[in-house]
Amino acid sequence: AIVDGEGNLVADIVASQVDFHARFGGVVPEIASRKHIEAICGVCDECLDVAAAHLGLEHLTWSDLDAVAVTYAPGLMGALVVGVAFAKGAAWGAGKPLIGVNHLEGHLYANKIGAPDFEPPAVVSLVSGGNTMLVHMRGWGDYETLGATIDDAVGEAFDKVAKALGLGYPGGPVISQQAALGNPDAIAFPRAMMHSGDLRFSLSGLKTAVVTYINNERDAGREPNVPDIAASFQQAVVDVQVKKAEMALRQTGARTFCLGGGVAANPVLRDAYQALCKRLHVRLTLPPLSACGDNAGMIALVALDRYYAGKFCPLDADAQAHANLDEPY
Ligand code: KG4
Repeated sequence: AIVDGEGNLVADIVASQVDFHARFGGVVPEIASRKHIEAICGVCDECLDVAAAHLGLEHLTWSDLDAVAVTYAPGLMGALVVGVAFAKGAAWGAGKPLIGVNHLEGHLYANKIGAPDFEPPAVVSLVSGGNTMLVHMRGWGDYETLGATIDDAVGEAFDKVAKALGLGYPGGPVISQQAALGNPDAIAFPRAMMHSGDLRFSLSGLKTAVVTYINNERDAGREPNVPDIAASFQQAVVDVQVKKAEMALRQTGARTFCLGGGVAANPVLRDAYQALCKRLHVRLTLPPLSACGDNAGMIALVALDRYYAGKFCPLDADAQAHANLDEPY
């Protein structure tokens, strides 16, 4: 993505590799990093072309930019390394400063894409294939993780349940389609940690309960009712997410709630948050679906603030698999 000095995205290109992972039922790290290598030059060239057209210029090169930013953490090491190495080369070649960005902070900034007037303080629910957490955004760059999953992420649970039902990968969209046809009260799946009194989550027990239910149905000679299972599973997830979001809002006193990560595309979850925020008189910011999943636009928006703050990173910086959102960098 390319962002101008006012925070307008002049180009934002997404290359998806989901089809290559689908046949394996999940993300294969080696394939992820290989596909990054294959895609990165073409995606960046396309981005420069789109930005040039947008700005009415013949063409745009790296030298025309003011800085080069890259996601350095957290995530799959093999994929991060490709981006970091490429960005270092681009920055060094064009003589521009390098900016490192925390991927999770990108999801927080994604709220600006749909609502440019969005401002912290806010409570943010980050729900993706790799993360499930509630974050108190006290200000830009000032975050407190209120609680996170102790095992699987929400998106991972959707993916695993879809796999058990033979619905393919990624599981989120297909489970929510099936759920729309089923009864959310049909099967009483567990709401783990609903009453734990803290803001942590646990999803692996729910996944096991669903898989056990499917196996029991098959053992009893019945064909599992896919829409009812999908709807009941989804409702169990949503109930816990909404309960903990309410606790987080009450605990922090924040008057704005927002969502990030691929699971934020789930329509039942979005509706449930709409109802919650209406009841609590809290402002709800829902990023557009295109900004919920991983995208470079949100990373560019973080980078713009870091650029103005003079937070650059040296050319010997490395990718990191883990990074704590609460620690300033
Ligand atoms: O943020 P994202 O694009 O990638 C990372 O995980 O970093 O999120 C992908 C996850 C997948 O697990 C996918 O199944 C889930 O988001 N997802 C959904 C929906 N759409 C995507 N989960 C529930 N309901 C959806 N409609």
